[in-house]
Amino acid sequence: MTLLVRRRVEKPALLCVVMSASIVSLFLLYNSSADRVSNLVLEHRQNYDQTLSGINTQSLNSEETRSDDPRLIDIIRKLYLMPASTEPYAFAAASLPSDGQATIVDNFFKQKTHGLFVECGAFDGQYLSNTLFLERFRAWTGLLIEPEPSNFEDLKNRHRKALIANSCLSSKPHPSEFVLRQDRALSEILDVKNISYDRETGGTGDVSYNIVQCFPFYSFLLAANITTVDYFSLDVEGQEFNVLKTIPWHRVDIKVISVEHKHVKEGKAAVNAYMATTGYVDYDELADGYGTPSDVIYVRRDLLA
Ligand SMILES: *[C@@H]1O[C@H](CO)[C@@H](O)[C@H](O)[C@H]1NC(C)=O
Ligand SMILES: *[C@@H]1O[C@H](CO)[C@@H](O)[C@H](O)[C@H]1NC(C)=O
Repeated sequence: MTLLVRRRVEKPALLCVVMSASIVSLFLLYNSSADRVSNLVLEHRQNYDQTLSGINTQSLNSEETRSDDPRLIDIIRKLYLMPASTEPYAFAAASLPSDGQATIVDNFFKQKTHGLFVECGAFDGQYLSNTLFLERFRAWTGLLIEPEPSNFEDLKNRHRKALIANSCLSSKPHPSEFVLRQDRALSEILDVKNISYDRETGGTGDVSYNIVQCFPFYSFLLAANITTVDYFSLDVEGQEFNVLKTIPWHRVDIKVISVEHKHVKEGKAAVNAYMATTGYVDYDELADGYGTPSDVIYVRRDLLA
C-alpha cells in the first residue's frame, strides 16, 4: 500500500527524466538487442538444427521449401510433434476458462463430440484455453502449438489429450525461423532478418528473446494427418493475418476459425474482407476481459443454412 502511494507521488517528477533519457537509450537498446538476437540465432540453430536422413530444418528454411515437401512433413512428425498424454490431467489451481470462444463453438456444433481442433498459441493449455473445454467434456482432440519454451513446459505438464508442438505457425508459406520478443503481455513475433519492433517495453526492462522454428499451418495438418479441422483457434500476437494468408484454402477443410485481431496491424476490417474472399462469414465477435474487441469467429459459408 505505502509503496503504491509513494510511486504515484513520485511519478510526474520522474517522467521528464525518463522521457529525455529514453530517446538516447532507445537507440542504444536497439543496437545491443540486435547483437543479442544474432548471437541467440547462432546458439539456437545448434540446438534445433538436428539432421534427419541428411535433411535439416535450417536447410529447408533457406530453401524456402513448399509447405507439402515430404522431407518437411517428416521432420515435423519426427522432431516436433509430441503425442497426446495418457496420464491424468494436472491443472493449475488458479486459472481462467476461455473468454467465450469455446462456448460459441460448442453451441455452433450443437454439443458435438469427437471433433478436431488446432490451437495456436496454446499458452499453458489451461489459462484462457479455447479448446480445453471441448477436449474434457466433448472428447475432442487435435493439435496444440506453443512457441514460448516455458509456456510449452507448462503445457506439457497439463497432460492434454492432444498432440503438442513447441513451435509456431509461419507467417510465410514456407518454414522459417522467427524471433519471439517477450515483454510480459507485450510479446511479439519478429522476422529474424528484420528485428525492428513496434511496441514499447512494458517498463519492466524485463525483455527476453527466443528463436522459434515456425512451419506453415498446412505442413502441420499434413504431419498430424488432420484432414478436417472443426475448430482452428488462432491467437499469435499480431501475425494472425499473415498466417491466414499462407493457408491453401482449396486444399483444407476448416469449419470454424477464431482469429484474435486485437494486435493485427491491418485491423479487423482487413481480416474480415480477406476471410470473405476465402468463403467465411463473420459469425460472432468477442471482447477481451477489458471490453476491448478482440476476436472474430468465422464460419464457412456453406455450413450456415
Ligand atoms: C522491418 O520491419 C519494420 C516494422 O515492421 C517495417 O516497417 C520495415 O519495412 C521492415 N524492413 C524490411 C527491410 O523488411
Ligand atoms: C500420420 O500417418 C503416418 C503415415 O501413416 C504415420 O507414420 C504417422 O505416425 C501419423 N502421425 C500421426 C501424428 O498420427
